[in-house]
Amino acid sequence: MEIQIIEIPKIKNTKGNIGVIEMDVVPFDIKRVYYLYDVPSSAKRGGHAHKALLQLLIPLSGSFDVVLKDGTEKITITLNKPDRGLLIKSNIWRELENFSSGAVCMVIASEVYDEDDYIRNYDDFLAYIKTNQQ
Ligand code: TYD
Repeated sequence: MEIQIIEIPKIKNTKGNIGVIEMDVVPFDIKRVYYLYDVPSSAKRGGHAHKALLQLLIPLSGSFDVVLKDGTEKITITLNKPDRGLLIKSNIWRELENFSSGAVCMVIASEVYDEDDYIRNYDDFLAYIKTNQQ
C-alpha cells in the first residue's frame, strides 16, 4: 500500500509558525473541512471506508494513530506533526485510535458529507474492493 504524506508549507518564526494550506497543497478540490477534538484516549474513530471520498488528515495538535487496510496489507501511521498530513484515498479502510490528550485531527475532504459514500462493514468493504478492482 502506498502511503502519501503531504508536507504543509510553513512560515517559521521564533514567535511561532504558520502552516498554510492553499489549493495547490491538496491534490483535490476542497469541498469540506471538519475536525475531531475532545476525543477520549480509549476511543476508536473511523472504522469505515469511502467509495469516492479523498481525505487529507492533519494533526493540528497532539498525536493519534491511523490504521489503514486495503484488504491485503495493514499499516499503522502515527500522525504527530502539524506540518505533515496523511492522504487517504478511496477504498481504504481506516481506523483512528490512541488520541493523545488535546489532540485535534483536521480533515480536508474532496466531497461534502454523503452517508451513501461510506462502507461501514468490513466484510462489505472486502466484497466492494474485490468487485471494483477487477
Ligand atoms: P463518522 O464519519 O462515522 O466519524 P469518524 O469516522 O470520525 O468516527 O461520522 C460520525 C457521525 O457524524 C455520523 O453520524 C455522520 C456524522 N457526520 C456528518 O453529519 N457530517 C460530517 O461531515 C461528518 C464527518 C460526520
